[in-house]
Amino acid sequence: MARTMLVVGNWKMNGLKAQLGEVEAIGAIASSHAGVEVGLCVPATLIASASGKAGGAFIGAQDCHQKESGAHTGCLSAAMLKEAGATSVIVGHSERRTDQHETSADVAAKALAAKAEGLKVILCLGESLETRDSGKAIDFVLDQLAASLPEGAGADWLSIAYEPIWAIGTGRIPTMEQIDEMHSAIRGKLRDLIGAGEADGMRVLYGGSVNADNAKDIFAIADVDGGLVGGASLTAAKFGPIIEAAAG
Ligand code: 13P
Repeated sequence: MARTMLVVGNWKMNGLKAQLGEVEAIGAIASSHAGVEVGLCVPATLIASASGKAGGAFIGAQDCHQKESGAHTGCLSAAMLKEAGATSVIVGHSERRTDQHETSADVAAKALAAKAEGLKVILCLGESLETRDSGKAIDFVLDQLAASLPEGAGADWLSIAYEPIWAIGTGRIPTMEQIDEMHSAIRGKLRDLIGAGEADGMRVLYGGSVNADNAKDIFAIADVDGGLVGGASLTAAKFGPIIEAAAG
């Protein structure tokens, strides 16, 4: 099944208003590559100002709370993110699973809360180096997928991002064979969990040290439908070639 390539920047805890020029420049590149869906998940403080400048790119958030409202100091609901201008949200990034101790059940609940507000969701999975070295990476990631996948998961609102923790920000990426093997396994598990129709339409992104030099090879892998990009999404100069690589 033909799936539109999806390339999303995750700015993490980077970006002040001074960087809105980069949002504008990336949005302009996105506009000239209509065949690729491009997004930028900026810090929540930038969502409102970035959404007016993003051109052909959508603006997303990096997390949302699973509840609609309440006594959760410092947290943001899906409705708040949507009102600010986000149309998507990342859930379950490994940095949040580690730093904020988010469980897969939390991640599934966050995804459902986002969907209830009409936000699209990018759900992250990935194994540690220890798990990779023990030969259990595929089992681990498939279990994590089964535990994190929200009820009613559908290709029209949910994408998966496979991000091996040991490849994030390290410059070290899996071999193309390892990426191929993992993405095929994720696709197969999705078929078991939600049926072939939804599974074959769902984008499965790769993330972890994607850059201008490796993007073309990674995006050429059959079950890779784009990328979730950290460091190399912070400037148009670095992100532009990755968008171009996805355009083929
Ligand atoms: P890097 O591209 O900086 O390795 O980050 C990947 C990532 O964690 C995206 O969510």
